[in-house]
Amino acid sequence: MTHAPGHPQPLSLSATGPLAGDVTVPGDKSISHRSLMLGALAVGETRVSGLLEGEDVLATAAAMRAMGAQIMRRDTGEWRIHGVGVGGLLQPAGALDMGNSGTSTRLLMGLIASHPITATFVGDASLSGRPMGRVITPLGLMGASITATPGPGRQTLPLGIIGACPAIALTYTLPVASAQVKSAILLAGLNTPGETTVIEPIATRDHSERMLAGFGAKLTVTKSPQGRIITITGEAELKPQTIVVPGDPSSAAFPMVAALIVPGSDIIIRNVGINPTRAGLISVLQAMGGDIVLLNERVVGGEPVADLNVRHSTLTGIEVPPEGAPSMIDEYPILFVAAAFAQGRTICQGLEELRVKESDRINVMARGLSACGIACEELPDGLIVHGHGGDPVPGGATIAAQLDHRIAMSFAVLGLNAARPVTVDDARPIQTSFPGFVPMLEQLGATAAR
Ligand code: S3P
Repeated sequence: MTHAPGHPQPLSLSATGPLAGDVTVPGDKSISHRSLMLGALAVGETRVSGLLEGEDVLATAAAMRAMGAQIMRRDTGEWRIHGVGVGGLLQPAGALDMGNSGTSTRLLMGLIASHPITATFVGDASLSGRPMGRVITPLGLMGASITATPGPGRQTLPLGIIGACPAIALTYTLPVASAQVKSAILLAGLNTPGETTVIEPIATRDHSERMLAGFGAKLTVTKSPQGRIITITGEAELKPQTIVVPGDPSSAAFPMVAALIVPGSDIIIRNVGINPTRAGLISVLQAMGGDIVLLNERVVGGEPVADLNVRHSTLTGIEVPPEGAPSMIDEYPILFVAAAFAQGRTICQGLEELRVKESDRINVMARGLSACGIACEELPDGLIVHGHGGDPVPGGATIAAQLDHRIAMSFAVLGLNAARPVTVDDARPIQTSFPGFVPMLEQLGATAAR
């Protein structure tokens, strides 16, 4: 699954007045991937509403179909999945094309690691440069045989995997704070005899734990001085579920910052997931002076959700606590944009992981912000942004999005309050996580030049 074929689609957004209105954002990407995977392993019919229909999630759907699950979308927008049962995945006929999606790749490697399956994973240029050693090591210890392509200092796609059946249960301490690595091991543990344990010294998003327990897997989470200890009992039987996917806080981050930086704006973003392992950006923006109010806090399908009222604000630079990084790891590019409009410096550190996302997000953001006239200092593990103080930033640059949806959306938002247009060279990657991004901003009053 690759982005729409054909020519690059440049994008430039502007705002001639305040943003106003009431919008929703698409379903949570992490929960959407997991809904399809766990539904495909349950016996019976799982129903999912609010599924993110972006390219990354569709890559997961295609892979689960290729391994035997029946997955269909009804006209109502509800998705129905008939699973094959844990241990029942079938040999896919061809290579699994993961497109741009690291989550699909790493989690599916985990699933296949404990099934008698031989599979090949391929992806686009961005995904093919990302490190896979972090999952190859633990899944290898569980018995899977994995052959990757050597990249510069890392193991990359394309890669071949031969699952082990039975796989060997394992206790593994995560060397990097990664929900994808944690989830890959827990998913491998589903079809592994005995107890598989992951110890995470730093907490990462906990959707896998919540959803595995919701589907009926025996899973325990305890806190210890070493961190969170998560244990799953293998050869599980999963029961089908009815899932309501909340709006993705990582997508809500874009209209949130748009409203904060465009003078006079006052918007509501409905139905946003505020799981504490994901909601770090809200408290950081509030600490910078952002007027963000949580309304109608509630629990939907086991996940906390709220409506967000966001108003234009005078922002002040802060030192962002590095220990909060996992709870906002995907939001740093748009936080750097907010920081560009703040008074004073915003210092962000502890972000080594940003260098191995869909692009090297520290470097790509530093170069793009500089090109738009915003002073910043690139650090090995972070970025210092010297804010412009709330006035329109100079802008006037074309940004290479590097096949990175969040870079494309971040600079499109920056352009909403720039003296000269900011053009993103190719908006197609936005389809991976946020179909409807441009129409949503147009609904709020922005103008798009495409
Ligand atoms: C994700 C985990 C994070 C995040 C990614 C989605 C997940 O990656 O950046 O967008 O769904 O588990 P890491 O596990 O590499 O931090």
